[in-house]
Amino acid sequence: MILVTGGAGFIGSNFVLRWCAHTDEKVLNLDALTYAGNLANLQSLNGSEQYQFVQGNIGDASLLTRLFAEHHPRAVVHFAAESHVDRSIAGPEAFVETNVVGTFRLLEAARSYWNKLEGAAKTAFRFLHVSTDEVYGTLGVSDPAFTEITAYAPNSPYSASKAASDHLVRSYFHTYGMPVLTTNCSNNYGPFHFPEKLIPLMIVNALAGKALPVYGDGQQIRDWLYVEDHCSGIRRVLEAGVCGQTYNIGGWNEKTNIDIVHTLCSLLDEMAPAAQRGVINQQSGKPVLQYAELITYVTDRPGHDRRYAIDARKIERELGWKPTETFETGIRKTVEWYLNNQQWVAGVIDGSYRDWVAKQYETGKQ
Ligand code: NAD
Ligand code: DAU
Repeated sequence: MILVTGGAGFIGSNFVLRWCAHTDEKVLNLDALTYAGNLANLQSLNGSEQYQFVQGNIGDASLLTRLFAEHHPRAVVHFAAESHVDRSIAGPEAFVETNVVGTFRLLEAARSYWNKLEGAAKTAFRFLHVSTDEVYGTLGVSDPAFTEITAYAPNSPYSASKAASDHLVRSYFHTYGMPVLTTNCSNNYGPFHFPEKLIPLMIVNALAGKALPVYGDGQQIRDWLYVEDHCSGIRRVLEAGVCGQTYNIGGWNEKTNIDIVHTLCSLLDEMAPAAQRGVINQQSGKPVLQYAELITYVTDRPGHDRRYAIDARKIERELGWKPTETFETGIRKTVEWYLNNQQWVAGVIDGSYRDWVAKQYETGKQ
């Protein structure tokens, strides 16, 4: 079986769902259920023998020791993190606690477990650390994209904490020979994305007639990857990646933020016309005719990175992985998903998703 951390978050839950669809191998999901963890994402696995959930913190060394001893994972796929840059600016401490100290505790528990393994089990064990392109810092418009040998230059407390965790993971390979793999991925989008991040926030706000807040001049560039493609990239690295190596994962989809917002507005105009839905502009009190009317430029994010771009040639060349979605197909699916899952959105907005554990998982807790 594999141990996944942070499997109730956006990418982690997509990964767990895809894992269970692609293989029979069991998966244990360890998640602290912070505000970003939502077990409703995994509702379709209720009752599945393949999937087990444990509510707990990656910083809890004794829990980790027990989980390794009881479940004997052949691999760890480590997603758990504080992930939102704006939150890291408002309160960096949780980022250091989870992303740095939490990753350290997880590495220690994994090392102690791996040390005791023997033979084929020891050789086969993997610790896959899921990281971000933000560790490489920011690019100018004509700079080449980040490769695996681009020097680290993190600019936010979030990216600094992820960079620190990447360095710890690297050191466990070089110092202890632990079989680690690191992936550095660009911006993901798709189902179950928490509506504090750009794409889901814009969809949710537009449908509610709220302002669409674009930071600064909106010309910052991000490189977008459909979340299922990220998950297939991680599976491929877990299967065939060379220990000690890092792999950039990206979708070759650089877009300015303002282009993203306009694309979302056009798709919503087509798929959920504001006039038909009776959307009222919450600021002016007037009916919305086209969602782009709601675009509002707001104060920029402090230290805002201008451009990210991932050079994903290594994973394609060495492991034969390529994304399957284009941005056009992926973003249309994403908008459709949000339109078809208004209850999920409502549960997140009113906070009721947090009751899910009490309602559904009383017996699932360990
Ligand atoms: P998320 O914020 O949606 O989910 C994080 C999950 O981790 C949540 O379920 C949360 O409850 C859990 N968690 C947080 N602290 C924990 C702790 N101390 N112990 C156990 N669980 C804890 O994040 P995401 O967007 O799904 O990102 C997952 C990983 O992928 C992160 O490591 C992030 O840095 C990385 N990443 C994200 C993106 C992106 O675009 N979202 C891109 C590249 C890499
Ligand atoms: O690049 C990978 C990273 O992508 C991940 O490591 C992070 O976990 C993930 O949160 C994401 O970080 P970003 O800061 O790029 O994502 P976010 O959705 O917060 O913002 C995307 C861009 O949109 C960024 O340039 C800021 C801008 N933005 C964001 C919000 C929330 C706005 O203009 N307005 C907004 O309201």
